[in-house]
Formats: sequence, structure tokens, C-alpha cells
Amino acid sequence: MGRDNDREHFDDYRAQTQVKHEILATYLTPYFRIVGTANKDLQYVDGFAGRGTYTKADTGEVFDGSPLRALKLIASNDTFSKKVSAVFIEVDPILYLPLQKAVVDFGKANPHIRQPNTDCCTFADGVKKLLKQSNGNLPPTFLFVDPCGVSGTSFETIKAVMACKSSEAFIFFNIDGVRRIAGLDKLSDVLVELLGSRQRAEELFSALQTTDEADKRELLILECYRLALRKDMRVEFSIPFRVESEEKQKTSHYLIHATNHKLGFKIMKDIMWKRGHSEEGEGALQFVQAGRTDYVALFDPHFDVKREILNALVTGPRCVDLFFNDWVVRPTDLLSQSAYKQALLHLEASGEIEVLDKDKSTPKPMMSRRRPKGKSTLGEGYYVRLTGKPSV
Ligand SMILES: C[S@@+](CC[C@H](N)C(=O)[O-])C[C@H]1O[C@@H](n2cnc3c(N)ncnc32)[C@H](O)[C@@H]1O
Repeated sequence: MGRDNDREHFDDYRAQTQVKHEILATYLTPYFRIVGTANKDLQYVDGFAGRGTYTKADTGEVFDGSPLRALKLIASNDTFSKKVSAVFIEVDPILYLPLQKAVVDFGKANPHIRQPNTDCCTFADGVKKLLKQSNGNLPPTFLFVDPCGVSGTSFETIKAVMACKSSEAFIFFNIDGVRRIAGLDKLSDVLVELLGSRQRAEELFSALQTTDEADKRELLILECYRLALRKDMRVEFSIPFRVESEEKQKTSHYLIHATNHKLGFKIMKDIMWKRGHSEEGEGALQFVQAGRTDYVALFDPHFDVKREILNALVTGPRCVDLFFNDWVVRPTDLLSQSAYKQALLHLEASGEIEVLDKDKSTPKPMMSRRRPKGKSTLGEGYYVRLTGKPSV
């Protein structure tokens, strides 16, 4: 992806950009709040900050880019204003100028916040400087890694940030770009930089030679990256949110959240899950644009969740907190609390399970529970058990 493409990125405000911004902005509040309880300094680093704003070429409408979104969130909260230092890195001098102006102007208009910094350099160099200034020990940092392409998405840089206490990353993972690089005649250094090791890149490169099937190749690439996060970066939890391409029925990219905190994993999954709701109210860790595709079954929320729940109830009633609080934080579990709730409500509606009150014995049917706006609910603390009736 060249500089021209990078610059054109800001001439439209696409639905997928909006989704990315919404997920990021929604998560930042709980992140700063939770991590901020035990830390007086927090940091937000936007490693691919862009121009600061988007302008729709056809209408002239202007939208905030990720830097202004984050700054507005920080400025809206007294605690965040005092605690969060924000740094915006952008390599392209043409895009850097408006970025710098937007950030400086925002700082002047909001003297109550810690004054934000900007740096015109690569993501890797910018983070290197921050690490040097803090002797390798950054305050808890939320890192946004949002390249247009693949180049510059330095694994080692993300790893250095993730090694600092309570730090987390939100990464735009350009699977389309990786597919292209992996299809080249020989191993590209960009792939090595992305995966952090030549050996891992070689393994992926060879594995991809073994199949032409698009969904298998996609899964190989994604799982290779998540494995690298887990094994080489020591990231316990990673969540991939799939974003479909606008015109073609294939994956465009994944938004990957990396964290070592159970609560962060749980909260982000729920935010992503809700953002991926279809019109029928079904949730998923994906944003479908062009239409339903041959997407990877791993991301189908219904692949076996109901069966797994029914199996867990064979030995007797279980508190729903088991699913809502324990199962959702299993590192390999890509279902959110909302997804478990939805599956339990479906099982109740089909007569396969019944809900018991918090005393574990009194039946508590759907109509006797709270029904805000006529919707069925299932709060924490209730129990569920098998009715013995098979589904119809
Ligand atoms: C997708 S845009 C960023 C959009 C921005 N995060 C937002 O949401 O408003 C990617 C930006 O990264 C910049 N960029 C590309 N390679 C870079 C690198 N190695 N280091 C820093 N910035 C880079 C591009 O010039 C471009 O402005």
C-alpha cells in the first residue's frame, strides 16, 4: 500500500472505519477506568494516526479520525484528563501537518487535559523513543495499530509495548494484504516483520503453498498470527473481529484485540459482539458488508454452543454465571456473554432447558422475569437445568 493510497484513505468515511472507531472508543472508557484505579499515569499511543479527520469527497462532510475521537473521550472525563498522556505517530509528512494542527488546536482548546504529543516518524521509531524516555517501562498503554496495508506493522514494537504492565493493543490486521504478500514467489521481509520471526514467516509461507482454498488460507494466516501473539508475545487473550470487504464476498481485514486481562477480554468481546449484530438480532464477531460468504466456521456463533451448554447441564442445574463469567474468559472461547445469554434464551424458548430462581429450585419462567420493552432477559445468579425435552 503506497502513500497515495494512504492519503486517499481520508477522502471517504467508510462504514468499516466507523465500526473500527466505535469499537475503539467504546472500549477505551472501561480500559482507562479499570486500569486507572491502580495507576496514576496511563498512556494512549496511536501508532498510525493519519490526518486527524476524514472528509467525504462527494459531500464535503468532515468526520473525526481516531486521534480526535480519543482526545474527545479523554477530555470528557476529569480522571482521564488528569491521567492519560496521548501520543500520535504518523510517518507521512503531508498527513502529519494537519494531524499536528488538529492535535495542537485540541490541546489549546482543552487546557485541562495532559497536553498531547505528536511525532512524524515510523510507528517502530516513535515507540522506540517512548520506550527510551521511560527506560523501557511505559505506563499502562493502550496501543492502536492501524496501518492501511501490512508494511510497518512491527511485531517487535507491539511486543515491547505489551511487555509493559497492563498494556493492551488493538490491531488492524490486513489479511488481504498478507494474502497478497504470501502469494509472492519468495518470502517477503514484510511478513517477517509482521510475524516477528523468520522461522514463523517461513512456516506460514510453506503452509500456504499446500492449499488454494481461500477459507483455509485465511484461517492459516489468522491462526499463525494469533499463535505468534500467544507464544512469542505472551498475550493470553486475542479476539479477532472479522470485517468483510465492501464489494467482494471475502474478508477484508480483522480487528484484533490483544490483552492479558480476563476482564478486558470479556468486555471487548461483548463490545465487538454487539457491534456485529445482524438485523435479526443475531450477534457475531464480524461486520458483514457485501453479503453472507463462505466465511470461516470458527466465527459462526452457533457452531456448537448450544450442544456444549446442554452437555454441561447433564450432571444437574448450573448457575448461569458459569457461562457468563467463567466460560467467556476461557482463552480459546470466542463467544461473548451476550452470545451465551442468547443461546440460553433460545434453549429455554425451545423447551430444552428451564430457568430456576436464585434458590436453585423454584422455576422462574420467562414471563415471570423482568421484560424490558417486552424482551426476554436472563440475569446473573439464575440457574438453568435440562427439561428432558428434545428440541423440535
Ligand atoms: C488507516 S490510516 C490511519 C487512520 C487513523 N488511525 C484513523 O483511524 O483516523 C494509516 C496511516 O498510517 C500511516 N503510516 C503508514 N505506515 C506507517 C508507519 N510505518 N509508521 C507510522 N505511520 C504509518 C499512513 O500514512 C496513514 O496515515
